[in-house]
Amino acid sequence: MEGMILVHVLVFLVALIWYIFIRRNRTNTAKLPPGSLGWPYIGETLQLYSQDPNVFFANKQKRYGEIFKTHILGCPSIMLASPEAARFVLVNQAHLFKPTYPKSKENLIGPLALFFHEGEYHARLRKLVQGSLSLDNLRGLVPDIEAIAVSALNSWADDGHIVNTFHEMKKLSFEVGILAIFGHLETSQKEQLKRNYSIVDKGYNSFPTKLPGTPFKNAFMARRRLQKILSELISERKEKRSTEKDLLGCLLNSKDEKGEILSEDQIADNIIGVLFAAQDTTASAMTWILKYLHDHPKLLETVKGEQKQIHQLNDDANLQLTWAQTRNMPITHKVILESLRMASIISFTFREAVTDVEYKGYRIPKGWKVMPLFRNIHHNPEFFHNPQEFDPSRFEVAPKPNTFMPFGSGVHACPGNELAKLEMLIMVHHLVTKYRWEVVGSKSGIQYGPFPVPMHGLPAKFLKESTQEKGAILCGAFL
Ligand code: HEM
Ligand SMILES: *[C@@H]1O[C@H](CO)[C@@H](O)[C@H](O)[C@H]1NC(C)=O
Repeated sequence: MEGMILVHVLVFLVALIWYIFIRRNRTNTAKLPPGSLGWPYIGETLQLYSQDPNVFFANKQKRYGEIFKTHILGCPSIMLASPEAARFVLVNQAHLFKPTYPKSKENLIGPLALFFHEGEYHARLRKLVQGSLSLDNLRGLVPDIEAIAVSALNSWADDGHIVNTFHEMKKLSFEVGILAIFGHLETSQKEQLKRNYSIVDKGYNSFPTKLPGTPFKNAFMARRRLQKILSELISERKEKRSTEKDLLGCLLNSKDEKGEILSEDQIADNIIGVLFAAQDTTASAMTWILKYLHDHPKLLETVKGEQKQIHQLNDDANLQLTWAQTRNMPITHKVILESLRMASIISFTFREAVTDVEYKGYRIPKGWKVMPLFRNIHHNPEFFHNPQEFDPSRFEVAPKPNTFMPFGSGVHACPGNELAKLEMLIMVHHLVTKYRWEVVGSKSGIQYGPFPVPMHGLPAKFLKESTQEKGAILCGAFL
């Protein structure tokens, strides 16, 4: 009898062990995606940075399919080039992946900025940033954004000099960023912010080192000075006790469920973070829009037609744009979407697996990076017919779900997308109704810094048009 029980127990134990072993084994034997890890340590970083990243990714995808492994920037990584995989990482299973940035960059921007975080802290800050950039708040910014755009365009057309379009667009997007964050700032405060921030900006992509005199060290020191300036701005605002709805106001007024307010460091890091997220992205997009419009004269005429219509309805060229008008520019809006698709400014993003993850039978080991490749998806002929062709009319039909993600997707998707689009619409309105522009020098080529920008920042000449035309019409009337 006892022997029988022992046998039963033994059989049970063997079955249990076998079961556990097989199960463990099964998850362990899920294979890594195909691909090559390249050289030890440096992996395929050199290949990625020595050639057009489009070509690098496209070749990989051709060879291995939509999921493949590689080794870049010292990290084993898995690249994902399908809409489903991007959705898996960014939306459905977002909790299995966390944001990941090089420590040096995190410290330069400010480690408490929302995009480095996940969970509760991220959600709290995201709500505040989103709130400050809500449509209701943007509505009130139209006249100020318009003033910024008009003044920028005027300065470019000043004496027919050659303008570095990207640099100028950066100034414009910085001003709009400052406006969304602080509302109206004193000129001297704005200048200090601008000059110190531009030192941070220059060091951001340089080699991280503490050696004095290097761009990175200079950036680090400028970041400290920014902290001081921000601290002063925060005290000033606190004294005024005003309840502005700009980002600074939202951050200062926030209390969590325990009644805790945000610390000065949390506020400062998030302000620099938003400024950083807003500037080069929007500037790059606007530079591409100018290039695509310039390269497609017929399309430019159509956009002009749409934008001049707005003036005619007002019957006064000096009337300001209304919010409703900015929401009703269908042709220009499609040009913007198509520019975002073509340029795919954020070509890809990084996350890190916080645990072993299995996707479609492939293993993504804990600690590995995953990279949803937005650009590959945007340039896949399966989703965008003739993907290399600039054709805004393709947006007459909404793209298939998860195939168009210029602003990302899921919990970290861009909260500034509506502001960016508003800024672009307003800029294009004034550009096409009052100016002509000529691109100077070589017309092709892309520069990565790290966002894609037309070669040399698209050097161009701007000429004011409307006064000449009016003059011509007047002369005609007199003759
Ligand atoms: C054309 C212009 C822009 C493009 C293409 C763009 C694109 C993106 C993308 C793709 C992401 C997600 C990154 C990821 O998932 O890893 C993102 C995040 C973000 N963007 Fe933008 N962006 C633009 C303009 C702006 C502007 C104007 C602002 C603010 C005023 C802004 C603020 C942010 C912030 C704060 C995040 C982080 C969100 C989070 O982690 O929860 N962006 N952006
Ligand atoms: C940076 O900010 C400080 C104030 O902290 C200011 O005195 C200085 O002029 C600014 N630097 C530059 C290069 O503008």
